[in-house]
Amino acid sequence: MMTDITDFFIDEFRKKIGSADDAPRFYRPRPYRNAAVRFRKCSIEDFETRRDILVREAGLNVFLFRADMIPGCDLLSDSGTTTMTMEQWAAMMLGDEAYGSNEGYFELKDQIAETFGPDWVETGTASGGFSESLFLFHQGRAAENAFFTILARELREMPAPTPVLSGGLLPELRERIEARASALPGRKRSIDDSMFIIPSNSHFDTTQGNIEDKRMIPLNLPCREHLEGREDFPFRGNMDLDELENLLSTQKERVPLVYLTITNNTGGGQPVSMENILGIRRITKRHGVPFFFDACRFAENAWFIKRGEKEYAKKSIGEIVHAMFACVDGFHISLKKDGLVNMGGALVIRRGGAFYEKFPGIREGLTDYQIMAEGHPTYGGLPGRDLKAVAEGLRTIVRPDYLDARILQVRGFGARLSEIGIPVIKPVGGHAVYIDLDRFFGDGAVDGDFKGISFAALMLIAGHRVCELGVYAFGSYDGVRENPPVPRVNCIRAAVPRLAYEDRDLSSMVEAAGVLAEHRDRIPAVKVEYGRELSMRHFKSRFAFRK
Ligand code: F0G
Repeated sequence: MMTDITDFFIDEFRKKIGSADDAPRFYRPRPYRNAAVRFRKCSIEDFETRRDILVREAGLNVFLFRADMIPGCDLLSDSGTTTMTMEQWAAMMLGDEAYGSNEGYFELKDQIAETFGPDWVETGTASGGFSESLFLFHQGRAAENAFFTILARELREMPAPTPVLSGGLLPELRERIEARASALPGRKRSIDDSMFIIPSNSHFDTTQGNIEDKRMIPLNLPCREHLEGREDFPFRGNMDLDELENLLSTQKERVPLVYLTITNNTGGGQPVSMENILGIRRITKRHGVPFFFDACRFAENAWFIKRGEKEYAKKSIGEIVHAMFACVDGFHISLKKDGLVNMGGALVIRRGGAFYEKFPGIREGLTDYQIMAEGHPTYGGLPGRDLKAVAEGLRTIVRPDYLDARILQVRGFGARLSEIGIPVIKPVGGHAVYIDLDRFFGDGAVDGDFKGISFAALMLIAGHRVCELGVYAFGSYDGVRENPPVPRVNCIRAAVPRLAYEDRDLSSMVEAAGVLAEHRDRIPAVKVEYGRELSMRHFKSRFAFRK
């Protein structure tokens, strides 16, 4: 039988679009189209104006540069920068601004049960009153602040751990813990002051700041493959399980809980495997230590598990998310990332889980904190309409077509930077591309030069915003010496906002970065004019190019 001629064309069209696995295929359309656009106030050609604003107003600090004067890609953050969907805007119009127990709160509880698993929150008719497990906040760090404040209060009520690190701790870990203890901002302290340790694959800077503020030690345990820069290893966000085992078997009285950041923003935006999550679950369970996620980019992490671990290839993203969250006793999340909204955060603690068992007073403490600082627990610092947008965002974020387009866009962007000779951390993660400054500059830079700050400043003059997450952002200055971060991190991050940019926008950023790569020996050092010794200094400092 003769095939219909249209079959021939269908085959040809199919070959052209390739498979969704192929990195940058420009002829595969996005699974959405623009429903509203924002025209720029300025032109890409206004180089001198940008230089003026950058030098005079912003002191070369990209955080202080006015966003409306950026004509290219604003890749400062993927946080709160999402373009919302029509469904989210429509849901917002139906927002209920009641002071107590607004409609959006109940919708969100139902959606949390659907997205993360039915055990997490009370739903249906049994859901009257406010939740035992869901604490809403206006953003992620507010949830962190509440959590560590109340946790520190609970810990003070418990017997203090012995004042010295017990034997059997790996020398490398002991060194890392002691270095962190002596780098705590403010009054110098040592580990002898019975401080608590909170391990993670890598803490984000605000999480680190909140933990340190409570005189606890944030300890990063990134996996070997990550530290060795293994580009063939798909799960460089993993935690080092041997180090975790060693820490818990020797110091567990100092460890109130173990954290895992999915995906690992500080390490390179890279995912954590289900195998690693299950390994951490086994270790923490054996030692009776609760296990939490910093879950900002949970859906992106699930996408990588589906692609990278055979046992999960046939599972839906929703099923993988349930399997991931079945392993933890709680999580906090900035909904500004995989909540697909511009503002929002939450802390969720498993009812009947190990954390509540260990710290029974925490629920009342958190509820009181919310009432004092954020608002009634049923809105937690957010308008009722925003809760509806979050519920809708959580539905969209696990769509496979959305996640394919999202992550392949980011990876394609990384591939293009790499093609023109810019060293990026590989494999590229889910939300951002990290340019490796140590490899970019080679021997041409020393830590106190902060050429990463100059890189970001010159990119702004070109019309695109990226930021340094490296020896300036994560290092510290003790008045005499710079202390670079241990383990070392030294990158420029280009974070891609969700549903906001087209590939051609990102390509124009690649072109500009290519100019810096070509003339990297001419990129100047900077001098820090203000803020070198401050905590979280990258948000506040001012710089000038050195002549
Ligand atoms: N945890 C992680 C892993 C994060 O990436 C962030 C924010 C937070 C916690 C804090 O959440 O911003 O809602 O208070 N990351 C943004 C970024 C700011 O650009 O990576 P938040």
